[in-house]
Amino acid sequence: LESEKVKVTFVLNDGKRLETVANVGDTLLDVVVNNDLNIEGFGACEGTVTCSTCHVILKPEDFERLPEEASDEERDMLDLAYSLTETSRLGCQITLTKELDGLEVKVPETINDARS
Ligand code: FES
Repeated sequence: LESEKVKVTFVLNDGKRLETVANVGDTLLDVVVNNDLNIEGFGACEGTVTCSTCHVILKPEDFERLPEEASDEERDMLDLAYSLTETSRLGCQITLTKELDGLEVKVPETINDARS
């Protein structure tokens, strides 16, 4: 069974766009790992919600259409991220759905590994 695909773009601080085709059901962290995207330090805790290095900034309209709100755990970790915005989330906590096709997220300039 072929899994459904969606387009996801990561926009880096220097304006570089990393365009990917991702599987529905994957998290944004999975997308970075599976596509070997070169985003330094991203996903240091491998999705265990202890690092905040997977901080991404969404467009307001995308933020609104995410199927799930941030858990308390995620919120606590986001508080430790640099350059936090109103539409920030942790990439390891965003699971792709078909509706999110075309998603574009910004990777902030500085990432903070809350474990260090
Ligand atoms: Fe560490 Fe998401 S990968 S919090």
